[in-house]
Amino acid sequence: MQHTPRQAGTPCVPIDLGERSYPILIGSGLLADPSAFDAAPAGTDALVVTNTTVAPLYGERLAAALAPRHRRVHQLALPDGEQHKDWATLNLIFDALLTHGADRKTVLYALGGGVVGDMTGFAAACYMRGVPFVQVPTTLLAQVDSSVGGKTAINHPLGKNMIGAFYQPLAVVCDLDVLKTLPARELSAGLAEVIKYGPIADMAFFDWIESHIDALRALDADALAHAVRRSCEIKAAVVGQDEREAGLRAILNFGHTFGHAIEAGLGYGAWLHGEGVAAGMVMAAHLSCELGGVDAAFVQRLATLIERAGLPVRGAVIDAHDNAGRYLELMRVDKKAEAGEIRFVLIDGPGRAVVRAAPDALVRAVIDRCCA
Ligand code: NAD
Ligand code: GLY
Repeated sequence: MQHTPRQAGTPCVPIDLGERSYPILIGSGLLADPSAFDAAPAGTDALVVTNTTVAPLYGERLAAALAPRHRRVHQLALPDGEQHKDWATLNLIFDALLTHGADRKTVLYALGGGVVGDMTGFAAACYMRGVPFVQVPTTLLAQVDSSVGGKTAINHPLGKNMIGAFYQPLAVVCDLDVLKTLPARELSAGLAEVIKYGPIADMAFFDWIESHIDALRALDADALAHAVRRSCEIKAAVVGQDEREAGLRAILNFGHTFGHAIEAGLGYGAWLHGEGVAAGMVMAAHLSCELGGVDAAFVQRLATLIERAGLPVRGAVIDAHDNAGRYLELMRVDKKAEAGEIRFVLIDGPGRAVVRAAPDALVRAVIDRCCA
C-alpha cells in the first residue's frame, strides 16, 4: 500500500485535562511519520500492542516510525475479537512486558480498534502502577470515540467493560489512511458512534451526517476527516468538563445501556459494539419519546439515518422466554445504575441529553416494541 505523506499543519484537537492534557492528531500518513509520536519520551523502550489482523497491515509501518525514538521496539499481537477482551488476554500484555524487562518508562502503543485500545490502556494503568501509553486507533469507532478520554477496561461475562480504570494516553494519533482497509461492517459500526454525537450535543452535526452519510460509507477522505475531527471535538469538550463521569460524561453512553445488554446477552462478538449502540439508540429514542423528550418524527429521523449507515434499528432477542426481563437484568449491571435502578441516557429535546430512570413497565413496552 502507498504511504501518503503527512500534510503540513495536521489538525490537532486538544483535550484539556490540566497536567493530563494531550493532543488528538488527525490526518493522512501519520502512522509513518516519526514526528507524530513526539509526545512519547525518547530513548525508552516501546511495546506495540496490536492484534493478529492489524499487525500484518500496519505493525511494520508503526515500528519503523518509532525506531528513531525508542531504544527497542517490541510488538505483541493479541487474538482478535471482543470475546478476547478479558483477563486471559490482558495477561498476555503483562507477560510480554515482564519478558522484555519493561520498566516504568516503557511506552505502550495501542495499535488497533477499541478492543486493543481499551485493553492496552488498562494494562498501561496497571503495569508498575502506571506506564505511559499512546493510542493509535485504526477503526473509525476507535478514532471517534474509544481512543479519546481515558476509559480503559475489559469485559466480565456478567457485564460489559465492568473492570477498568480511567487512564489518559500521552497522545492519540488518528491516521485516516488506515480506514481504507476497514471492512464495511466495521465502518458502519463506527458510524453509530459518530451519529450518537448529534442527538446528545450537536444537531447541526447531525444534519451534516445526514447529507454526507453516503460519502462517509464510500470512504470520502474529506467527509471522514470532518466526521473524526467534529466527533473528537465534541468528546474532548465533554471529557474536559467531566473526566471521571461524575455526571455530564454519561451522555456519551446514549444507546449504550440497551446496546451493552445486547452484546452481553448474545455473547460478546455476536453483534459489534457499534451495532448494539445503533439499535440501542433507537430504543432509547423510543423511550425518550414515551417520556415526552422528543416526538415520533425525531425517532423516525434517527432510525432512518441509522439504517442508511448500514446499521440495525431493531434490538436483538436475547432471551426467547422473557426477553424484556433479560434486558432489565443485564441493564441493572451497568455502571450508570444506582442501587439496582437503571439510569438511561435519554434525549430531552434534539441536541440535549439527560440521564434518568424510567418505569420498568415503560422500558418493557419499548423493548417488546423494538426487538425483532
Ligand atoms: P475492534 O477493536 O474489535 O475492531 C474491529 C475489527 O476491525 C477487528 O477485527 C480489528 O482487528 C479490525 N481492524 C481494526 N483496524 C483495522 C483496519 N484498519 N483495517 C482492517 N481491519 C481492522 O472494535 P472497535 O469497534 O474498534 O471497538 C469496539 C470496542 O471499543 C468495544 O470493546 C467497546 O466496548 C470499546 N469502546 C470503548 C470506549 C471507551 O471510551 N473506552 C468507547 C466506545 C467503545
Ligand atoms: N464512550 C463513552 C465515554 O467515553 O465516556
